[in-house]
Amino acid sequence: MNLIYRPRRLRQNPSLREAIAETRWAPSQLWWPVFVTEGKKVSRQHPLISGLQTISIDQIYSTLKEAASHKIGGIILFGVTEKKDSKGTFALDKNSTVIKAIKEIRSRFPDLLVATDIALDPYTDHGHDGLFDGKKILNDETVEKLCEMSILHAKAGAHIVSPSDMMDGRVEAIREALDEESFVDVSILSYTAKYASCLYGPFRDTLKAKVKGDKKTYQMDPRNRREASRELELDINEGADMVMVKPASWYLDVISDFKDQSTVPVFSYQVSGECGMIELAAKNKMIDRNRGILESLDCLFRAGSDAVITYFAIEAAKLNSER
Ligand code: PBG
Repeated sequence: MNLIYRPRRLRQNPSLREAIAETRWAPSQLWWPVFVTEGKKVSRQHPLISGLQTISIDQIYSTLKEAASHKIGGIILFGVTEKKDSKGTFALDKNSTVIKAIKEIRSRFPDLLVATDIALDPYTDHGHDGLFDGKKILNDETVEKLCEMSILHAKAGAHIVSPSDMMDGRVEAIREALDEESFVDVSILSYTAKYASCLYGPFRDTLKAKVKGDKKTYQMDPRNRREASRELELDINEGADMVMVKPASWYLDVISDFKDQSTVPVFSYQVSGECGMIELAAKNKMIDRNRGILESLDCLFRAGSDAVITYFAIEAAKLNSER
């Protein structure tokens, strides 16, 4: 055959493939979600997802030592507590576990970037991210609480606050609140397009959060793409330093849109159900686990993610350096 174009020429050996790979990423682009709880000597792994860990404060040093040694980008902290009530009171406690954890991490690992999740759901008995009057999630009243929570986290030493609640106007309100308290250097990583997804199950089990009803009045409809661009426009105008798409793998179009339509860093969150599906498929010998982890991340970066939050962060950092 007299073919002029033979794309296979560039695929014939590993060095050549490596030389022309369009997507590369480093451990510094992986962020690990960490769950902290009360008590001592607690170190629990999710039965299916080994990277989904709940630890007490005294376990922070031993747990994060490895993470830090792999030079992952940072961690994002969540609280796990039995102290739940209708208003999520413990979220605003100056001695909450998350506050203590931020201080411990900042003093033990001065170079590790610390982000904290801002929402009420770990602390409410109805499992919602905001205040709930029995019928509605109250937007503006919730935003006030999120501002207070952000200030507490900033005071404890968080570098980044990350509102995951999807209330309207929260980015601007949090920015103003932080600035008023002189935390002008604390940045906001907004969960800009967060969808009402079926993929949050293992996370909610970890938080012991039983959601009354669903979150469809504030999280986005998975059928909507242009609406995500609307959220992006608003978040940027409100002062978000970084934006996020969540979940990640089923939302590659949205990640790609965010990359094209903005000039801020784009994060994606490979959520618990996504990691769980990979674990289950591997367990059932349907896919190779290591390849599944790497391919899922390669594709998130290819789509336009500048960084990925994932339960596989530490393992993926290792796997990536070995390939
Ligand atoms: C809620 C929140 C959720 C996750 C992060 N922040 C779940 C939810 O909206 O119910 C999910 C993360 C995951 O599944 O890994 N503030």
